[in-house]
Amino acid sequence: MGEFLVLQNYAHESARFAMHRWWEYAKSNNPRSLAKGCSMAGVQKIPGVIKDQPVIITRLALFILFGIGLMGVSSATDGAGPAVGPQNASAPAGTINGYQPKWWKEAIVYQIYPRSFKDSNGDGIGDLQGIISKLDYIQGLGVNVVWLCPHYDSPNADNGYDIRNYRKVMTEFGTMADFDELLKAIKQRHMKLVLDLVVNHTSDEHAWFVESRKSKDSPYRDYYIWRPAKDGQPPNNWTSFFSGSAWKLDPTTGEYYLHLFAEKQPDLNWDNPKVRSEVYDLMKFWLDKGVDGFRMDVIPFISKREGLPDLPPEYMSQPQYFYAMGPHLHEYLQEMDREVLSKYDMMTVGEAFGVTLEQTPSLVDERRSELNMIFNFDAVRLNRNGDEWRDWTLPELKAIYTQQSQALDVHSWNTIFLSNHDNPRVVSAFGNDSPAYRVASAKALATMVLTLKGTPFIYQGDELGMTNYPFTSIDQCDDIAVKNAWQALVVTKKVSPEVFMANVRKVSRDNSRTPMQWDNSPNGGFTTAPKAWLAVNPNFLEINANQELSDPNSVYHYFAQMAALREKTPAFVYGDYTDLDPANPKIFAYTRAIGAEKYLVVLNFSTDAVTYKLPGSIKAGELLISNLGKTTERGDTLHLRGWEARIYKF
Ligand code: NOJ
Repeated sequence: MGEFLVLQNYAHESARFAMHRWWEYAKSNNPRSLAKGCSMAGVQKIPGVIKDQPVIITRLALFILFGIGLMGVSSATDGAGPAVGPQNASAPAGTINGYQPKWWKEAIVYQIYPRSFKDSNGDGIGDLQGIISKLDYIQGLGVNVVWLCPHYDSPNADNGYDIRNYRKVMTEFGTMADFDELLKAIKQRHMKLVLDLVVNHTSDEHAWFVESRKSKDSPYRDYYIWRPAKDGQPPNNWTSFFSGSAWKLDPTTGEYYLHLFAEKQPDLNWDNPKVRSEVYDLMKFWLDKGVDGFRMDVIPFISKREGLPDLPPEYMSQPQYFYAMGPHLHEYLQEMDREVLSKYDMMTVGEAFGVTLEQTPSLVDERRSELNMIFNFDAVRLNRNGDEWRDWTLPELKAIYTQQSQALDVHSWNTIFLSNHDNPRVVSAFGNDSPAYRVASAKALATMVLTLKGTPFIYQGDELGMTNYPFTSIDQCDDIAVKNAWQALVVTKKVSPEVFMANVRKVSRDNSRTPMQWDNSPNGGFTTAPKAWLAVNPNFLEINANQELSDPNSVYHYFAQMAALREKTPAFVYGDYTDLDPANPKIFAYTRAIGAEKYLVVLNFSTDAVTYKLPGSIKAGELLISNLGKTTERGDTLHLRGWEARIYKF
């Protein structure tokens, strides 16, 4: 075809957007950046193009000029952009398939749990220098945003989600100089850094709480939620997510304080304007250093119900739906936006435990100026009944994604995730972690997560297909949630140890918190200490990064290919989503499309070989990727092997 550049069909994205992205990448000296700039600017390169960079630059200049013309036309026609697909025949200029383009919509986020990522100083605990040493590994995956779980000073009652000092780095993780180095090294690699913002509660060792508990007259008393006893009992029947009452009697003043999580995590009183102002200041402290946003821990809980009424019986098993979405939540988030968020080019993602899908647009609709996106728990908790494992079905999972795509219009954005530090390993929970299918199913899940509609969040180790840990004893566990539940259920003989541990193996948070498996040396290369803070999964001899980096067919390399495919395919970001076969119990087949640019994703969620006739008149065209090797199969009938995943253009 010769050497030339083609404006893709979907290059109706605004010229301003194209220029902005081209410029962002052209500014960098990264050799990958030019190609990246081309594809991100909506310019497709024909194979073999990147031989002669000046030619490309000239062509890009032409494209940019063309774009400027286009921009002029669109504004002259009062915002009516070119036809861009079914959702948005009248979409405003500058949109893609009706969506305002944003870097955080196009990003792939990689979540790091620092305690378990990489230990650099041999104390058995991961740290910031350890992360720095692995940034090339992370960049090699093709992700562009790192979400760092709490790295702040903490007594670690809940592994950093109990913050003692918001402006200090946890000693075990390093120093502020290490943090600055990490941020710089991430930026040098053209990635962004998002921090965890944990402000529903602090540690009970935070200076505010230390003062608050001293006396009822303390200037900090009203920073937290204190109440007297009611008839000699806690002020209400609220329960903690970590077992027992959500109230703790403090002997110094004889009053109770509220803690929705551990006793050492007292809830802040957001109704106090001083608290809100303190939070905005600490957010600015990190944003001014150059971080690119926040993942906001249990943010829908910050506004408590007026009068703190008792939990009604129907909420007892799922109190999150009662604690979330309090009366002032929107007001506080809009204030936060005015005071902080609107002043930075940043992303926000709220951990929206207890928020229903119907409530979601009220938090993320861009016209409301609250959050960019939230984590909806419907998919990740599909395998749960309360805290217990339940067998889920594929039609249930598919229904969730359809509901999400219907509930969120072009003004709202979604997230896609099936794992994190609070949930079991994705391949164990949603795939098949047996030796025969672990690799295939981990790849199939990566195919899905990277092509569903929303910003994908990947948890460390899932790119290797790391699995749940074979826990047999409570002594092997670290998580405060599990330890408290053991006390509440097993010690009181409500549940047998065997049943409890079987559930731990399925759903415990510790499954995902075991250290990263880097190589086949002792402790999986995570630490040089004799013992890691939490035991490394014994399967590190077979499953580890070193092995996967050297194996072109590994989950890691497949993930990187998928990430590259997503990056050059706007339809996987902004395209319409259609589930082709919602009731099929084994096959997940869906399309992503922007106008004539159409992609078909077919995933076999079973170990069975399946002959699959595509619904309607759809025919598989050009195969773009497959997790079980190349196939020439096209047309309307596909022969899929167990856990096979394919993406076609059609
Ligand atoms: C949600 C976090 O993801 C979890 O790890 C933590 O225990 C609770 N919030 C309390 O901060």
